[in-house]
This record gives sequence, structure tokens and C-alpha cells, in this order.
Amino acid sequence: MRIFRILILGGTGDSARLIPQLAALPNVELIASLAGRTPKPNIPNIGQVRRGGFGGVEGLVNYLKAEKIDLLLDITHPFAAQITHNAAIAAQCVGIPRLVFCRPAWEKEVGDRWITAIDHTAAAKLIPEIADRVFLTIGRQELSAFATVVNCWFLMRMITLPSITMPRPPGEILLDQGPFDLEKETQLLIQYNIGAIVSKNSGGSAAQAKIIAARHLGLPIIMIPRPELPDGEVVSDLQAIVPWVESQIRSLGSFNA
Ligand SMILES: NC(=O)c1ccc[n+]([C@@H]2O[C@H](COP(=O)([O-])OP(=O)(O)OC[C@H]3O[C@@H](n4cnc5c(N)ncnc54)[C@H](OP(=O)(O)O)[C@@H]3O)[C@@H](O)[C@H]2O)c1
Repeated sequence: MRIFRILILGGTGDSARLIPQLAALPNVELIASLAGRTPKPNIPNIGQVRRGGFGGVEGLVNYLKAEKIDLLLDITHPFAAQITHNAAIAAQCVGIPRLVFCRPAWEKEVGDRWITAIDHTAAAKLIPEIADRVFLTIGRQELSAFATVVNCWFLMRMITLPSITMPRPPGEILLDQGPFDLEKETQLLIQYNIGAIVSKNSGGSAAQAKIIAARHLGLPIIMIPRPELPDGEVVSDLQAIVPWVESQIRSLGSFNA
């Protein structure tokens, strides 16, 4: 009986929700891969879990070959552009099917005051014209882009502390991990007298409460749009992944019969 080996590039709540669904399929072995940056990742105790980078495209190609991976599922964060790009090239090199799950972006609604900034540097340049006190919700990796904004005060929310050497703007670091609640987000914005939010357009429900809270309070959001995806198959509905895997397994199975 042929076993199909699936590599899931994960680290998101969506990947945690998907893994039990995939594990219920017959004849599959799952390997979930995490970047390894979060101390307590949200990952079910099913199948194999590996942590840490592969070593660029070449490392991923070697891994896919060594582990005899049949299918690659990219369920990473919409802003994890590097691993998604690497996965696209590596899957093509090895000749295995790859599917990207990209959850829908948040859409602007009546009452929203969004200002688009093409990236973190552009967002930092806009801040002094917009507010003195800012809620920075972009995580820790791009914190240094805001280090030059020295005349504003920042509430910086992230899951883990940045390294002490990372340049950062003045303000306070708040360690917390979603999902976030609308009432608490509203209270936080009021308590810290926040005048604007900086956010990536991550989409999904876990971090959406701040978007709704800003709408209710009439606060502007400097919104950073997602990076472009490489060519290839993309779904935006998590429920579409299992049928995709089943159809790939059917065609791989008949190809190898
Ligand atoms: N809120 C969230 O849940 C969440 C989760 C993840 C990312 N993000 C956001 O996305 C942005 C980029 O994040 P990122 O650094 O994780 O992605 P990235 O910039 O696309 O990846 C950088 C490198 O990390 C390694 N990597 C990333 N994901 C991996 C995985 N699933 N398995 C193994 N290695 C992996 C790869 O290293 P090698 O080249 O060595 O293979 C990759 O080249 C950040 O802004 C971050 O805030 C948010």
C-alpha cells in the first residue's frame, strides 16, 4: 500500500486547524514544519513536527528529496513571503504538487479610516503626520523600521521579545498572543490614549478585533497590504484543502499504479 507524505509549512492557527482534518485521510503521513520562533506554537500533537529553517531553496529541495515528500502545503502567514517564495521554487525543482492557502484579506468597511502604506518603512514615515501615540501591531521582526520615529510614543505588541540589540522606537512592549477580544482591544486603545494603529492586512479572525475597535473609536489605521504570491495554485477556503489533497493522491496513485 502506497503511503503519501505531506509536508505542511505551518505556524498559523489555520495550519493547526487543518492538521487533524488531513490526519483523518487514509494512507497519509504528515510532517508539519515551523519556523521555530514561537516558544509555545499552536500545533496539534499529530504526525511529525520539525522546527527551524531549511537553509533557503537549496536546503528545502534537499529536504523534500531526502524525506520523499509527495505534496507540499503552504499554510504559512500571508506575510511569510520568503518561505512561500522558496517553497514555490523548491516544489517546482523537485516536481511535486504545491498548494498555498491564503486566508482572505480584511476588507475596508464603512467607518474605517485606513491609510495604505506599501511597506513598514513607508508606514513609519507616515506616522508623525497622523498621531503621537501609536499601537504598533506588526510583530517584532520589522520593529527596526520604526526606530527613526523618535518623537512619537509606541505601544508595541508582539508574541516574544525582540533581541536587545534590535533598534526600536520609544514606548512600551506588550507581550501577548491572539485571539484578541473586541472589548479588551477597545479598552487597550482607550487606556493608552492611542491615536492610530499600524497593522499588516493579515486577515482572519484572531487579530481582527483591533480593526473593529478602531472603527468604533474612529481611529485611523496605517494598513500594510500583503506581499504578492508567487504563481501557483491558491485557495482561500481552508475547507478546499482536503479535497485538493484527495484529488492529488488519486492522480499520484493512478500515475504510480
Ligand atoms: N502572526 C502569525 O501567526 C505569524 C506567523 C508567521 C509569520 N508572521 C509574520 O510574517 C512575517 C515573516 O515571518 P517569517 O520570518 O516566519 O517568514 P519568512 O520571512 O517567509 O521566512 C523567513 C525564513 O524563516 C524560515 N521559515 C519560515 N517559515 C518556516 C516554516 N514554516 N518552516 C520552516 N522554516 C520556515 C525559512 O528559513 P530558511 O530559508 O532557512 O528555510 C524562511 O526563509 C513576519 O512579519 C511575521 O510577523 C506572522
